[in-house]
Amino acid sequence: MKFFRTKEIPQNVETTQLKRNLKTKDLLILGIGAIVGTGIFTITGIAASECAGPALTLSFLIAAVAVGISGLFYAEFASRIPMIGGPYAYLYSVLGEGIAWLTGWLMILEFMLAISSVASGWAGYLQGWLNSLGIYLPKVLRASFNLKNGTYVDILAMLVLLFVTLWVSQEAKKMLRLNQWMVYVKFGIIALFVTIGMFFINLKNLTPFMPYGFIGAHGKGGVMAGAALVFFAYLGFESVPMAVEEVENPQKRIPQGVLGSIVLVAVLYMIVTLMLTGIVPFDKLNGIKDPVAYAMRAINQPLVASIISITAVLTLLTVCISMLYSLSRLIYAISKDGLLPESLQKVDHKTQVPKNATFVAGIFSMIFAGVFPLNLLAEFVNIATLMYLIFIAIGIIILRQKFGEPHKKEFKTPFVPMLPILSIAISGYLMFRLQAVTWLSFFVALILGFIIYFCYGSKHSLLDTKNKY
Ligand code: ALA
Repeated sequence: MKFFRTKEIPQNVETTQLKRNLKTKDLLILGIGAIVGTGIFTITGIAASECAGPALTLSFLIAAVAVGISGLFYAEFASRIPMIGGPYAYLYSVLGEGIAWLTGWLMILEFMLAISSVASGWAGYLQGWLNSLGIYLPKVLRASFNLKNGTYVDILAMLVLLFVTLWVSQEAKKMLRLNQWMVYVKFGIIALFVTIGMFFINLKNLTPFMPYGFIGAHGKGGVMAGAALVFFAYLGFESVPMAVEEVENPQKRIPQGVLGSIVLVAVLYMIVTLMLTGIVPFDKLNGIKDPVAYAMRAINQPLVASIISITAVLTLLTVCISMLYSLSRLIYAISKDGLLPESLQKVDHKTQVPKNATFVAGIFSMIFAGVFPLNLLAEFVNIATLMYLIFIAIGIIILRQKFGEPHKKEFKTPFVPMLPILSIAISGYLMFRLQAVTWLSFFVALILGFIIYFCYGSKHSLLDTKNKY
């Protein structure tokens, strides 16, 4: 049956139309650029006040462990099957075309809607700033479609994505250079926050450390609900394996890039969260959309707060840029296999960028950002990701059964199958914490995925003709 046919693992990983010029440092910057964004700059306030209190730092640790375990699977896959497309490509060789397509489809939706979410959060910040200057947009252009509120489209979110799409359609290196500066700025503001904030920590704010316990109390979520919420803050690490065709020595560098960015970001998040809840009593963070800047205002540092706000708005762009970069490579890879139309694999001669894939990804992200509200987008991103992380965990067990243990030079995940089973349990648990409406849209998306596969992909798959890389 076509659904279960698999692709051979290529012997020669050097074959690519793209330029191989990225090193581990570029990958870490790509990863961190894609990861650090609205999660830490916005969601921490809600997560501390509604779920975990000062123990939010533990929630970040738990989410990091969950994501880190999947990162290990990614690292092994990436070093054994170093093909563009990330989990989509890995599972093609292990679980077959159907599951690979579904994974690719969920990844396309995850990336697209994550880009839209961040653009939507970004637009919220910018509007807040414009409003403070007395500038107001016409009501119909202020937010996503909502007849009751009289809003039709979030125009700023759409415009920012137009800019990002044009940027990402330039050469990868050029794009990553801007990204690199933004990542440095992002670290700069976090360092500023930590350096000033540490003189204002009040230990009393850190007790009780776990006001709502581990699983929740008094109608609040607890540490585990906090972990489910801040899971979003780690997404973006999947960008790294997607650059495989542009990386020198991918077997070694991709695992370094994936695990390195997760660990660095986890440490950063835990420090920032501990400082934040040490400076401001956690219940005061309720409803605060710019908690990092808010904490600075709370200790009478308005100038630092303004610097943080303005630069945070700028740096949120890096998440959109890195994710759109990866998304276009994913669409390019799927199209190369024949599961999406051929025009999407066209590479621009001059810049060597998959231009059509970039524009299609950018345009859809713009539409979603303009029309759908942030909370719906973010929840969908979580459910789609958790689903394919389960596929990946199953995939690593099957990979070992089919192809044996990794070679000496390849990355080896410890404790297989125990670790994949643990990962399936954690991802499943987090999925069941999401709302019914999210599950409904998830089922609709899955059905759409099946329709595209059976009406187009299964008929145009390159496996129908020959194994070609
Ligand atoms: N990890 C990304 C963020 O927090 C999606 O914005």
